[in-house]
Amino acid sequence: MNAVMENILTRRSIRAFQNKEIPQEELEQIVQAGLYAPSGQNRQTWKFTVVTDRDKIRKLAEVIGRKLGRDGYDMYSPQVLVIPSNEKENQHSMEDNACALENIFLAAHSFGIGSVWINQMRDLCEEPEVREILSSWDIPSSHRVFGMAALGYAGASENKEVKKTGEVHFVE
Ligand SMILES: Cc1cc2nc3c(=O)[nH]c(=O)nc-3n(C[C@H](O)[C@H](O)[C@H](O)COP(=O)(O)O)c2cc1C
Repeated sequence: MNAVMENILTRRSIRAFQNKEIPQEELEQIVQAGLYAPSGQNRQTWKFTVVTDRDKIRKLAEVIGRKLGRDGYDMYSPQVLVIPSNEKENQHSMEDNACALENIFLAAHSFGIGSVWINQMRDLCEEPEVREILSSWDIPSSHRVFGMAALGYAGASENKEVKKTGEVHFVE
């Protein structure tokens, strides 16, 4: 099996992270992988905000948790949070961001760094308290956030067995 296929087939979502820094050069490459994702009509109207301050990540998680009524919600306390945002008027923004996220997950995995999609922002990014935090991180008010990438070295082991059950059908 080639290395790219091996990387795709062995990536699993990670939901517990070590308190261990991700080297800056690797982080930059991981985000670059997002930038190199396909985008509808090649518009590339996205922005990638990389939050490396765990207190800031915690603060966002707290606000999200409060909105969801989930006490202690912490987005799995990642080392880094990558927030792809995109112009609301771009009809492909959600798909573009999803492509970028998968590139980010696979790039992270290639460096031995774990990741998971955090989806709560999709419904909460216009909440004033959430938007206030996004604005303080220079995420434009014209942008929407869908999924985010929580990144870090895998912590306490979890069951990584995920059955892939989708159907594949070749028509010849
Ligand atoms: C659109 C979407 C939303 C997701 N949201 C979350 C989430 O909010 N929290 C979470 O822990 N995982 C989330 N996931 C990760 C999925 O649960 C995970 O990909 C799935 O269980 C398959 O596991 P695998 O990634 O290890 O292959 C999301 C994945 C997608 C594609």
